[in-house]
Amino acid sequence: MNLKHFLVHNYQYSPSNGVVSWSSPSNIALVKYWGKKEHQLPENPSISFTLESCKTITELIFEKREGTTDGFSFEVFLDEEFKPDFHPKIETFFKRIESYLPFLKDFHFIIKTKNTFPHSSGIASSASGMSALALCLMSIEKQKDPTISDSDFIQKASFLARLGSGSACRSLEGDLVVWGEHPGIEGSSDLFGIKYPYKVHDNFKNYQDTILLVDKGEKQVSSTVGHDLMYGHPFAKQRFNQAVDHISTIKNILETGDLDAFIALVESEALTLHAMMMTSMPYFILMKPNTLEIINKIWSFRQDTGLPISFTLDAGANVHVLYPEKDAVKILEFIKLELVAYCQNGHYICDKIGFGAKQL
Ligand code: PMV
Repeated sequence: MNLKHFLVHNYQYSPSNGVVSWSSPSNIALVKYWGKKEHQLPENPSISFTLESCKTITELIFEKREGTTDGFSFEVFLDEEFKPDFHPKIETFFKRIESYLPFLKDFHFIIKTKNTFPHSSGIASSASGMSALALCLMSIEKQKDPTISDSDFIQKASFLARLGSGSACRSLEGDLVVWGEHPGIEGSSDLFGIKYPYKVHDNFKNYQDTILLVDKGEKQVSSTVGHDLMYGHPFAKQRFNQAVDHISTIKNILETGDLDAFIALVESEALTLHAMMMTSMPYFILMKPNTLEIINKIWSFRQDTGLPISFTLDAGANVHVLYPEKDAVKILEFIKLELVAYCQNGHYICDKIGFGAKQL
């Protein structure tokens, strides 16, 4: 598939105004994307669990502009509050997607958005936020061309979301999404995420993710900077090859339900992501002392009890504690007793694997 597929050939209708609304979740990568090529194309394939509770709800109000249609015209509100500081990010996004949505300059947009998780939680809202906005824009496109099929709609929304924030293209569907071409995953593409197309063992149904909020501050290093530091990184090539191998391995794990192998792979991926940060030039560390305290506690508890608890990390200090639903009672008790003390203000979020975005 090439980029031409996403260009618009004809619109039958031209609505002059309206409102569209979507909720879209966050996702947590099991095999991580870290390093990109031009146009937000990933250096390696990745796979993620879609989350259920952590999501963005976006309402997009559009109104035909009169007179001049130079530049984009939009206002952004977060929790009803006008947010001019969101402007540059949306402007960049609109510029990147303009050739695929030629109506963007015809309208004035009011983007009203809110997250189910606190803004300053250290949980990135870019995946849920950009996917929700991409879906809203696709809903306008659908009004202009109602013949778009559901699968083309989702695929183009994922394609557009990727141009907003790479990992956003994995947030539209559930429960597992692959992004990035891989020979073992049929239909996989660098251009958009696809629903994981193979059998998944019952062990992974309703998999739990308790997010421990270790540090709710702004990240010292943005993921954009982090991705860029993979250019010329001494271990980049090995890392990208490792991710390709890990996708092959996880395919087998997801089929057989081998939790020990799952734990080893997912934890190694998390630590490799952070190892890439620590070995870039300039180098940086996003983990905090409490991140390591939590990891050590998880390892001791797993050794003592034999329960299949594991962790993963995104580009920050927070810890995602992953475990099967059948062990949830014992593991949640351990989390509350032993791990919550390491969270900033004792804050954590109970989430689990989810099934993707919803039109509201
Ligand atoms: O989508 P971005 O550019 O914010 O990058 C996200 C990178 C990680 O969250 C660290 C890994 C991933 O695959 O989601």
